[in-house]
Amino acid sequence: MADELDDVTDDETAESSEAVIAVHWREEETYPPPASFTAQANASDPAIREQFTEDKFPDSFTAYADLLTWFKPWDTVLDTSNAPFWRWFVGGELNASYNCVDRHLATHPNKAALIWVPEPENEAHQAITYRELYVRVNEFAAVLKELGLKAGDRITFHMPMVPELPVAMLAAARLGIIHSQVFAGFSGTAAGHRIADSGSTVLVTMDGYYRSGDLLDHKVKADEAVEAAAKEGQQVDKVLVFRRYPGKYSAATPMVEGRDVFVDDLLAAHKGEIVEPVALQATDPLFLMYTSGTTGRPKGCQHSIGGYLAYVAGTSKYYQDIHPDDTYWCMADIGWITGHSYIVYGPLALGTTSVLYEGTPNYPDAARPWRIAKQLGVNIFHTSPTAIRMLRKVGPDEPAKYDFHFKHMTTVGEPIEPEVWRWYYNSIGKREAAIVDTWWQTETGGFLGSTLPGIDAMKPGSCGPAALGILPTILDENGDEVAAGSGKAGNIVIRNPWPGVFQTIWGQPERFVSTYYAKYNKDPKSTDWHDWPYFAGDGAVQAADGYFRILGRVDDVINVAGHRLGTKELESAALTVNEIAEAAAVPVVDDVRGRVVEMYVSLKPGFDASPEVEAKVRTAIETDIGKIARPKNIWIVPDMPKTRSGKIMRRVIAATSNFTDTGDITTLANPEVVERIRHQVQSAKVARGEVPRELSETELHEIEHFGSE
Ligand code: WTA
Repeated sequence: MADELDDVTDDETAESSEAVIAVHWREEETYPPPASFTAQANASDPAIREQFTEDKFPDSFTAYADLLTWFKPWDTVLDTSNAPFWRWFVGGELNASYNCVDRHLATHPNKAALIWVPEPENEAHQAITYRELYVRVNEFAAVLKELGLKAGDRITFHMPMVPELPVAMLAAARLGIIHSQVFAGFSGTAAGHRIADSGSTVLVTMDGYYRSGDLLDHKVKADEAVEAAAKEGQQVDKVLVFRRYPGKYSAATPMVEGRDVFVDDLLAAHKGEIVEPVALQATDPLFLMYTSGTTGRPKGCQHSIGGYLAYVAGTSKYYQDIHPDDTYWCMADIGWITGHSYIVYGPLALGTTSVLYEGTPNYPDAARPWRIAKQLGVNIFHTSPTAIRMLRKVGPDEPAKYDFHFKHMTTVGEPIEPEVWRWYYNSIGKREAAIVDTWWQTETGGFLGSTLPGIDAMKPGSCGPAALGILPTILDENGDEVAAGSGKAGNIVIRNPWPGVFQTIWGQPERFVSTYYAKYNKDPKSTDWHDWPYFAGDGAVQAADGYFRILGRVDDVINVAGHRLGTKELESAALTVNEIAEAAAVPVVDDVRGRVVEMYVSLKPGFDASPEVEAKVRTAIETDIGKIARPKNIWIVPDMPKTRSGKIMRRVIAATSNFTDTGDITTLANPEVVERIRHQVQSAKVARGEVPRELSETELHEIEHFGSE
C-alpha cells in the first residue's frame, strides 16, 4: 500500500508550483446567446455599457435607483466622506416593502407575487397575489408593531422556505425593523449566536417543515437558540411560531408559556389592518446577513435600504432579465444572500412572479424540479453548481422527458466545472437558454461578475466580464496589477464602491475595514474612493478577453455546496470536546458538493483515539453549526504540522487529504509529522475507496493556497 501512495504523490510533484499552474489555464470555447433570447432581452444593445463607464461613475447608478419609487429623492448619489463606509443616495427616502408590494397594486394586484410549492407532491401549490401579499404583510407588520418593535430594532428569523418568510421580511422592512434571517438548516445554537450578536429580542420561527419527505421538528431549535443567546447575555422575550398547518401544531416540542406564541393566533386580532410603510433613509439598514470569516465570530453583513434595493432591482432587470410576465424560480434558500436578493427583493421590486420551493430538489426523485417548471411555466431558472451536479448525477436524462423551456438560467455560489456547465446548457437549457454564471458574495449584495445574457458570449467556467458599473482588477500580493491574459492568478478586487455593497459588519466596524479594505489601502485617511479597493477574498485569473475565472477563497473559508463555512467556527466547535487539544479544518474536493470538510484533531495527553471521540467531535459540529458542516472524516492525529511560530499549516493537511503535493515543508517546526499523517490518512482513504480523481487547475489552486492568507 505504501508504494501505491508514493506513486500518487510523485506524479503530482512536478506539476504543482504556482508558476507551472499559471500557464496551464485551458481556454474554453464560447457560446453566443440564443438569438431568440437577445430579441426580447432587457439589455440587448452593447451600448448599455457606455452608460456605466468609469467616467460616468457614480451617477451611472441612478439608472438603478430610478427603478424604485422614492418618497423623497436623494441629494447626493455617493458620499465618500467617511471612507470606506460608503453612503449611497443620501437624503433619499423610501420603503422596501412599499417598493416590493404596494406599488404593484395599481398595475397588477391579481398577479401572483409568490408561488409556493410545498415539498409533498400531494399538497397543492399556493399562488399569493400582490393583493394578498399586501394584506399578509400589513397584518404581520401590525403584529410586530403591537410587540413594540420599531425602526432600527433587530429581529431574527429562523425560518424555512415558506411564504411566511418573505411576508415576515417585508413586514419588518415596512417598519424599518432590521431583519436577520438565519438559514433553517443551521442549528439552534448557531441561530442563538446570531440573535445575541444582533441584539434581537424577538425570534420568529416555524413549528416544522418538510425536507426529503420528513416533517422536521424545527421548533426545538428555537429553544436551543434562546438558551444559546441567553448564555451570551441576550434575552429573547418572544418566540413567534408560525404553524406549517395553521391551527394544528406539528412539532413535538412544547410551547413555553409566556414566551412562545402562535402567529396565527396573533394575526386573528389584526385582520385587514393596514400599517403605513415608514419613510426611511436610503442609508438606513434593511437587513443583516451573517456569513463566516476567518475568526469564530460570524459577520453580520449590514445592507442598506436604498443602495441595496436599487442594486438588486437593476441587476435583476439586466442580468436575470426579469420582465413583468416572467415566472422566475430561484431554487436557492432565502436563508442565504441569493434568496434575499434574487428570490425576494430583486424580483418583487420588479413586480414579477417568484417561485418558492420548500424542499430538496431531488425529492421524491430527480425529476421534481422539471415537473415544477412544467406545471408552473417557469421560464427563468436559477440554481447552484452543487444542485446541477447532483441532478446530473441522479437523473441525467430526466430534463428531456418534461416539456419545460427556460429562456434564461443562472448558476451561482461556486465555480462550475465546464463539463457540468455544458450539461446545464445542453440538457436543462435544451440549448435554448442564455446562462449567466454570476460571481458575487453576501457582502456585495448583488452580482459583480457576469455576462450580460443578451449580449455577451458565454464561456463555461468563467463568470464573464465585470457587471455594469463595476471596476474589478486582479492584484498580486504587492498591490501590483496582474495583466489580463498573463495567465497569472491573483486577488480579485473591486476598485470602486457600488450601491449594493454592504455598509459595515454589525458591531464590528474595525473588522469591516481590516478584512475588506485595509489590504490595498495606502492612506487610511483618504476620502477618495480610488484609494479603497474592495478585497473580495477570492483568487481569480483574467483571460485576454477580459473574462474572469474565479478560483475560490484565498482565506480560511471552505465553500461546501455553496455555503461558506469558516475553519475557525468548525475548529471552535471541535475544541468544545473535552479530549481535544487542537483542531484544524480543511476542504476536500467532492464531485457533488464542490468541497466537503475534513477535520484533523489531536488529543490532550492521557486520552486515546477512539470512535467515541470522533463521534463527539461530529456531534459538537452539528450542534454548534448544523448538519451542513458535518465533516466527511475526522482524523485523530499525533500532532499537527506547524510553523516555528506555532501556526497550524492547513495548506499541508489540505494537500494530505486531497492527495496533492504538500509543497515546501522544510520551514516547519516538525516536518517529520507530515509523513506520519500522510501515511495514516491516505492509507485509510485508499482502504475506503476515497482516492480523489486528478484535480482540475482551479481545485489544485485552492488546495495549495488554503489558509495561506
Ligand atoms: C464563491 C454567494 C465561482 C466565491 C452569492 C465567493 C463563486 C463566495 C461564484 C461567496 C461563482 C460565488 N463562481 N465562485 N459564480 N459565486 N462564489 O457569500 O468564493 O455565500 O467569495 O455568496 O462564493 O459566497 P456567499
